[in-house]
Amino acid sequence: MIDRNKRGRAAAETDRDLYRLVEDFFEGAFSTDNALITEAVRRMLAAGGKRLRPRLTLLAAEANGADARDHLPLAAYMEFIHVGTLIHDDVVDRAETRRGVNATAVDFGNRVSVLAGDYLFAWIFKNVTATYPHPVPHILATTLADITDGEVLQHRAVGDLDVGVAAYTEIAIKKTASLFSASAECGAIMAGASPLRVKALRDFGLYYGIAFQMLDDLLDFTASESELGKPVGNDLVEHKMTIPLILALEEAGGAFRTALGRFYEEDGRADRGAIDELVAGVASAGGLTKTREAIGGYVERAKMSLAPLGNEPARAELVALADGLARDSADRAR
Ligand code: IPE
Ligand code: IPE
Ligand code: MG
Ligand code: MG
Repeated sequence: MIDRNKRGRAAAETDRDLYRLVEDFFEGAFSTDNALITEAVRRMLAAGGKRLRPRLTLLAAEANGADARDHLPLAAYMEFIHVGTLIHDDVVDRAETRRGVNATAVDFGNRVSVLAGDYLFAWIFKNVTATYPHPVPHILATTLADITDGEVLQHRAVGDLDVGVAAYTEIAIKKTASLFSASAECGAIMAGASPLRVKALRDFGLYYGIAFQMLDDLLDFTASESELGKPVGNDLVEHKMTIPLILALEEAGGAFRTALGRFYEEDGRADRGAIDELVAGVASAGGLTKTREAIGGYVERAKMSLAPLGNEPARAELVALADGLARDSADRAR
């Protein structure tokens, strides 16, 4: 439990406390009369994950003078929205693994996954609209619409070598950054923050979220499956136009573009050698280093967004979260 008299202690310890609070809250929080739906959703909730969105909500509330314990349900709804989008995303992407366990569709099938996700969204909004004042339900509904819009835009961009940084950024904002932004914004609103401070948190979430998606893209080129809990090189296999690839295409000669185009045309799903060659091509065209630089830029913007805040310990934790993205990207692309 968070002891309000000991706010000065190490950020890492406080992080663990917040994590524990959210976990405790999750146990049994989602329950329906339908055993299959309850099991499908609880299973993906219990599989873990970084719990970053609820953490942003709690830190945003704390940064505005609130006690994190008073905002656990709000934080949990952010994670519930995230889990619903993951369940649906794995159907859309035909993914087999998520959070180190079978994707929901692998164990429950596509039909139950789609319906369980739908139920979860309805359940969230039934509760959120009954509990929170305007504009919180409006922000969350807008975010879910943005995520769906982003997923469709990304689907349409699959395999399109002409997708540039601007189109990529729009997709990243909609499918990923919007929920980070809403998580931080709603935490600030419910803590009674001024409009200026609400905007500071909303912008922090937005820039943090873009950097987060770029790092996720980078890890797909540089991490291992055991680190990720999902397959590596998968974005290439899905013909997804991610930022390292887009930046590499900007720099690379025609040969790389031709090789990528041929890989997409031949649908080289099982060809590990071709994937490894493309990964090497992205690295040698500077796609990884330029991604790291782009992440660094958004991390700086995220931190600058917090200027209207004071020296709250929660602010330092938000800064540390953002710095963590820059550090992880530097470890992956020197
Ligand atoms: C996965 O999000 C989806 C993306 C936006 C890339 P996370 O990487 O936060 O997933 P969990 O919650 O830790 O499983
Ligand atoms: C994740 O998107 C789901 C959402 C952000 C809605 P991706 O398809 O890009 O990410 P992973 O690789 O499945 O986590
Ligand atoms: Mg997807
Ligand atoms: Mg996916």
